[in-house]
Amino acid sequence: MSERTVTLLAHEGALSILTINRPDKLNALNAAVIAEIASAVREVATREETRTLIVTGAGPKSFVAGADITEMSAMEEADARRFARAGHAAFTALELLSVPVIACVNGFALGGGCELALACDFIYASENAKFGQPEVKLGVIPGFGGTQRLLRRVGIAMARELVMTGKTISAEEALRIGLVNRIVTPQSELLGAARETAKMIATMGPLAVAHSKRVLREGAAKELAAANDIEIEGFASCFTTTDQKEGMAAFLEKRAASFTAK
Ligand code: COA
Repeated sequence: MSERTVTLLAHEGALSILTINRPDKLNALNAAVIAEIASAVREVATREETRTLIVTGAGPKSFVAGADITEMSAMEEADARRFARAGHAAFTALELLSVPVIACVNGFALGGGCELALACDFIYASENAKFGQPEVKLGVIPGFGGTQRLLRRVGIAMARELVMTGKTISAEEALRIGLVNRIVTPQSELLGAARETAKMIATMGPLAVAHSKRVLREGAAKELAAANDIEIEGFASCFTTTDQKEGMAAFLEKRAASFTAK
């Protein structure tokens, strides 16, 4: 495992947990944090035991309060392009992980924090969570996928309003618009709720979960007929796996399936 200081990556059997760890700066994303996220994602991608990754922020106040404004304030155009490319590369790698990724949003998810949560498969939030893309207040626009992933998650009308006004919304509002899957109260139970979901995922066929994730992601970017073809091919390829034979045999023999990810 590589050395990390501004992020922590812990492994507990089938679960891996990535914590953004700069609580004194509300876990703001500087270049070092982005590089560590990318390295943590590479580690998770090669760890066979991991079935779910949780992403969260250190401390009770903030998930991630955005890209680091101090660092950005000194940037010229070329630096900004490099920074946005690094953020995009890290978040796209996170999105492309074959295992489900749950964002546990434990406070502010602003700017790059909202974008990090959007690169995860789904979001559980504590009651104090706050979401927003406040970049226009700083004279910039989202640069780590905020305009594009937000519109795909909540639709173009809500994405336009959030991005163009820079306003912050509550966990309840985020739930209402479909940005958040679930609000967990109290905050101390947020990770526990995600762990329960991770436990459920760990009992499913790992290859089927990976195919589901891929087909949902790839299909979402296509028109319906092409998307349905992706599903048909994904469904058919499950029948080349031992897991499909085991899953169906276990049902017929009235026992729990024992999947091997083969
Ligand atoms: N970049 C760099 N530093 C940040 C930061 C960011 N995005 N967000 C917070 N911090 C730092 C603050 O500068 C402060 O550092 P200091 O103690 O050395 O002065 C520390 O984190 C605590 O933040 P503070 O503003 O004192 O907390 P608060 O509770 O009063 O306010 C926020 C919380 C989230 C409302 C406020 O910090 C904020 O608006 N942050 C910027 C959000 C943003 O615009 N993000 C998008 C960036 S593109």
